[in-house]
Amino acid sequence: MEQTLAGQRAVVTGGARGIGLGIVRRLTERGATVAVWDRDTEGAPGYSCQVDVADLDSVRAAHAATVEAIGDVDILVNNAGINGPVAPVEDYPVEAWHRVLAVDLTGVFHCTRTILPGMRERRRGRIVNVSSIVGKEGAAGISAYAAAKAGVIGFTKSVARELPDAGVLVNCIAPVITETDLFREMTPEHIAAGRAKIPMGRFLTVDEIAAMVAFVVGPDCTFTNGFVFDLSGGRATY
Ligand SMILES: NC(=O)c1ccc[n+]([C@@H]2O[C@H](COP(=O)([O-])OP(=O)(O)OC[C@H]3O[C@@H](n4cnc5c(N)ncnc54)[C@H](O)[C@@H]3O)[C@@H](O)[C@H]2O)c1
Repeated sequence: MEQTLAGQRAVVTGGARGIGLGIVRRLTERGATVAVWDRDTEGAPGYSCQVDVADLDSVRAAHAATVEAIGDVDILVNNAGINGPVAPVEDYPVEAWHRVLAVDLTGVFHCTRTILPGMRERRRGRIVNVSSIVGKEGAAGISAYAAAKAGVIGFTKSVARELPDAGVLVNCIAPVITETDLFREMTPEHIAAGRAKIPMGRFLTVDEIAAMVAFVVGPDCTFTNGFVFDLSGGRATY
């Protein structure tokens, strides 16, 4: 594989498993040195830091340790996220609401706020935030998750507007349901219902997400800032 990211240093939050791990592997194959920031680093390849992205002090400590270990960060992929419970809004547990927002939205703010100044100073950087199709469409029962993912889109666009000519590009991706270990916990009916909503008639793969992220952080993506890259198999109309 072409080493398009040789010499670049990347942080991938939630990189110990699932989609994040796929992104870590792809960026590593492309030649980047990757630090995995995860609440649970077991199984993480290469350099890793135990971090709770919802806690700013934890993020700051991880950043200091990462710079010490691998050098200044050129690429940030804000991927860590939790789903939270499924419940109608009037029954949605208040604590869970706060936790989902804290991890899925405030976590993106914490990592960006901590890593961006160095990128700005060096006039070089790429940030990719992992939103979701649910952030565009909404979904019954997961209002906190949808609100957080919609927030990630608004946050991405706002930060991009603060960096019109800084050498730093900030974009996000909006995937549909993806084939991960989660599928093992789902009923065949649930899986079939999810597939039926996707015009291409199949699920997104982790590899497809990783390939898009590698493009967005790579040298061929130079004129796109504040954009939501689609990964919906034809489902999204905007
Ligand atoms: N799986 C899907 O179908 C799908 C679809 C669209 C978007 N997404 C988004 O993609 C991202 C990754 O999802 P996934 O399916 O790989 O999830 P996953 O649960 O398999 O992995 C998430 C990773 O994030 C870590 N993490 C969770 N909370 C954290 C915290 N507070 N601080 C640091 N790390 C934390 C976990 O330990 C885990 O390693 C999430 O943001 C998710 O919302 C997933």
